Amino acid sequence: MENVVVSIGGSVIVPGNDDHLYLTALANLIAELCEERQVFLVCGGGKVARYYINTGRELGATVHELDDLGIAVTRLNAGLVQLALGDKAVRRVPHTVKDAKLIAQSGKVVVMGGTVPGHTTDAVSAMLAEEVHAIRIVNATSVDAAYTADPKKLKEARRLHRISFKELHDLVNKGEHGAGPSGIFDRLGADIALKHRIPIYIVNGRNLEELRKAILGLDVEGTYVGD
Ligand code: UTP
Repeated sequence: MENVVVSIGGSVIVPGNDDHLYLTALANLIAELCEERQVFLVCGGGKVARYYINTGRELGATVHELDDLGIAVTRLNAGLVQLALGDKAVRRVPHTVKDAKLIAQSGKVVVMGGTVPGHTTDAVSAMLAEEVHAIRIVNATSVDAAYTADPKKLKEARRLHRISFKELHDLVNKGEHGAGPSGIFDRLGADIALKHRIPIYIVNGRNLEELRKAILGLDVEGTYVGD
């Protein structure tokens, strides 16, 4: 059976915009798709995580402590997604990608958040994809595609339909210097996907038709990263 890893941003799960309705629709879609393939969902923390991290920073917490707060929120979001999936979800939030692989059951979805301090859930999704030999990673975000620059800041920003692993690598590294879009996919995650040549689909996770196509490996309006 094919394995597909979906990295779903906190900004998609809990933006505070009819989230229960969205989560119900998301769960219906995933429940349908998980019959023919093993789906792993990796949940991000979104603005709730940012709130805790910013407040913790004001309190003088270390980076490690702040990461732990962020991880706790990603697991809280994973719990919410599990509730929406009901008995279609494996009822445990694994803390490692190895454990995620071990608890996988056919016809059920493994839902997790972060693992250890020092990276984001995009990186976790790439590590998990490597662990389970996933055929693709779907990055369900709050933007509709990858752009050459942040379209909110730069009018000339071009939307990208299909890019190579090398181009993704260049894009995420450009972000480091504040010039490019840093939010498309985590740098470490991009490196892992590149190394193992695991294609990445970047789509707006609130657009369930797009998400469906990405999980199925069909042509999307968003961005395809691959060879
Ligand atoms: P996210 O994966 O949501 O981070 O995890 P992000 O990419 O910064 O958030 P978005 O996509 O822009 O909304 C939230 C935070 O939790 C910690 C990090 O501090 C991260 O920024 N985290 C998460 C870890 O330290 N390890 C993990 O495995 C996951």
